[in-house]
Amino acid sequence: MHHCWLSVLSILFPGPLSGLAMSLTPRWGDMRTKHMWAAVPEHWESMGHPSDGAMIDLRIALKPDRENALVDTLYEVSSPQHQRHLLLHCRYGTHLSKEQVADLVAPHQDTRKIVESWLEYHGVPPSNVSTSHGGGWLTVTGVPVSKANDLLGASYQLYRHTGTNETILRTVRYALPTALHGLVKTVAPTTFFGLPRTLRQTSRKRSRGRTALPSRRDGTDDENDEAVTPSYLRSLYKTATYRPAALDMSVLGITGFHDQYPGAEDLTLFMTLHRSDAVDPDPTFTVIGVNGGGYDPEDPDHEANLDMQYAQGMAWPIRHIFYSIGGLPDSDSFIPDSNQPENSNEPFLEWLEYIINQDDIPQTITTSYGGDEQTFPLDYAQSVCELFAQLGVRGVSVIFASGDLGVGGGDCKKNDGSGTVEFLPIFPPTCPYVTSVGSTRDIPEVAADFSSGGFSNYFKLPPYQTDAVPPFLQQLGDQYTGLYNASSRGFPDISAQGVDFEIVLGGELEDEIFGTSGSAPIVAGIISMLSDYRLATNRPPLGFLNPWLYGRALRLQGINDITSGSNPGCDTDGFSAVDGWDPVTGLGTLDFEALLHIVAAN
Ligand SMILES: *[C@@H]1O[C@H](CO)[C@@H](O)[C@H](O)[C@H]1NC(C)=O
Ligand SMILES: *[C@@H]1O[C@H](CO)[C@@H](O)[C@H](O)[C@H]1NC(C)=O
Ligand SMILES: *[C@@H]1O[C@H](CO)[C@@H](O)[C@H](O)[C@H]1NC(C)=O
Repeated sequence: MHHCWLSVLSILFPGPLSGLAMSLTPRWGDMRTKHMWAAVPEHWESMGHPSDGAMIDLRIALKPDRENALVDTLYEVSSPQHQRHLLLHCRYGTHLSKEQVADLVAPHQDTRKIVESWLEYHGVPPSNVSTSHGGGWLTVTGVPVSKANDLLGASYQLYRHTGTNETILRTVRYALPTALHGLVKTVAPTTFFGLPRTLRQTSRKRSRGRTALPSRRDGTDDENDEAVTPSYLRSLYKTATYRPAALDMSVLGITGFHDQYPGAEDLTLFMTLHRSDAVDPDPTFTVIGVNGGGYDPEDPDHEANLDMQYAQGMAWPIRHIFYSIGGLPDSDSFIPDSNQPENSNEPFLEWLEYIINQDDIPQTITTSYGGDEQTFPLDYAQSVCELFAQLGVRGVSVIFASGDLGVGGGDCKKNDGSGTVEFLPIFPPTCPYVTSVGSTRDIPEVAADFSSGGFSNYFKLPPYQTDAVPPFLQQLGDQYTGLYNASSRGFPDISAQGVDFEIVLGGELEDEIFGTSGSAPIVAGIISMLSDYRLATNRPPLGFLNPWLYGRALRLQGINDITSGSNPGCDTDGFSAVDGWDPVTGLGTLDFEALLHIVAAN
C-alpha cells in the first residue's frame, strides 16, 4: 500500500551491515557475474585489448537505502485523485526539489563505505571517487583498464562497429564481489554496447521508388494528400486558440545526439510558412551542449529540424532548449594508444547526470532516440529508467518516440544465443516512467504501420496500466503467444500524426518526412501548453503523465481512441489498433480542448 511518506527502512540489510564495514573484510575475491552476453553483440567486433596505459571512468549505481521510496513518491505526486489510495491525493503535484530527490535515492551511509573499501583494496584512493545523480552514483575517474579488469572480473577490449567503425571500450561480461550484489545496481560502461542512434527510419524522406514504405496515398480520399503541417495539427488536436501565458516559466526541452542540430534560419523559414502569427517574439531556441556536444548552425540535420520545427509549430512562444549531447565515439577520433580516459560513450547517462544536477529543468522534454530493449543490459536499463523516474518526481513530463519498426525489425531474433524469434520492444519507451508516443496518419486517424509497440521483457505491468492492458490481451487471445511478454509494461502510451511532415532543411522545403520522432515533439508541444496553462494559473506542471493519462484524462474523454490499423513486423501482421488501449497507438491521440478543461479542474 502507498501512504504519504511510508518509508521502507533498511529492509535490504537487516543484519550487521555497519559491522561489516568496520571489522570484517568481505571476501573481495568471491566474485559473481553481474551481467554477461551470450556472445559479442551483433555488429560489433573485437579489436583486441587497449594499450597498457589506457584508462577508463567507471560509474557505479548504488542501491538506495529506501528501496521503493522513489517510485512510491513518483506515483503519489503524479496520481490525481487516485481512487484506491485516497491518501495519494494529498500529494498530487507536490514535486520535489533536487535536494529532496537526492535524499530519496540516497544509499545507506554504509553502502558507500563498503564500496569504497572495495575500491581501496584494489588501490583506488577515495580522492578518485565522487558522487553524482543525487548521491546514488559513484564516479571513479582515471581507472587503469587493467585495474578495471581486476575490479570487475572483466576483459575490457576495443570493439568496432562493423557498420560505422565507431570504436568503444567494453567487456562482454562483468562480475562483482558477492558482498556487493545487494548494494550495487549497475556499473557502466561495461556490457552496454548500444548507442542511442536515431530510431531507424525516423525523419526519413520517403523515396518514391520504394513501395514497401508506408503510404498515406494508398487511400482513395483526396483530402489525405494534404501535407501534415502545424496548422493541420493545430486544428486536428484543437490547440489553435490557446496562447501560452506563463512565458517566464514554461520551457520545452529537446534532446539530440550524434551531433545533429536544428537550424535557426530553417526554423524562421518554417515558422514564416506555417505559423505566420509567430512574430512577437520571433521563434528561436537556446542550445546547451552536454558532455562536449557541439553546435554548428551551418549544418542542420533532418531529425533535429523535425523535432524543433514541430515542437515550435505547436508550442510557440514557449521557450525551447535544444540539448546537444556529445560523446558518441567517432570512427577516427579514438586513439587506442593515448592515455585519455575513455568515458565518453554512455550518452544517456551523461545527459541524465547533467539534467538531474540542474535546479531548474524544462517541464517537458522530448527524445526521439532509442534502441532494441534487448541490447540494453537489464541492470543498466533499470538504472537509467530510475533516473527518468527522478525527472518525473521533479515535475518533468518525459516523452519518447516509440520507434519506427512495428513490432520489430530485422530478423527479430532473441540475442541470448537461442535464436528464438520474438517481437522486439524498444527502450527507453518501455521504461514505465516515461510516456511513449506512437504514430497515426490521416483523418479520421488510423494507426501508422511503422508505429512501434508491444511489451517489455524488463519492466512489469505498471499500476496505471492494470485496467487498460488486460482487455487488449483478452481480445488478442492466443495469437502471438510466445512472441511477446503478456505480464509486462505495454507501450506506447499515446500517439500523434507521424507521416507526411513538411520540414525546412538547409533553406529547402522537404516533404514526405515520417516517423514517431515527429509524433513525439507534437505531443511534447501539446503537453507543454497544458503545463503552461497550469503554471499560468499558479498550479504545478503536469509532471509524470501516465497515471493522469490512464486515469482522469481517459475517463473524462480527453483522448481520441484510434481503432484501426496495425503495426506489422517480424513476418507477422503485428498488433491491431482496437477500442481502448493497444500496443500500436496506446490510448489514442490528445484532444487539447478537452484536456484543458480537465487540467483546469484539479
Ligand atoms: C586517480 O586519479 C588520477 C587522476 O585522474 C589518475 O591518474 C589515477 O590513475 C587514478 N588512480 C586510480 C587507481 O584510479
Ligand atoms: C570503416 O573502415 C574500413 C576500413 O578501414 C573502410 O573501408 C570503411 O569505408 C569504413 N567505413 C566507414 C563507414 O567509415
Ligand atoms: C517477462 O517480463 C517480466 C517483467 O514483466 C520479466 O521478469 C520476465 O523475465 C520476462 N520474460 C521473458 C521470457 O523475457
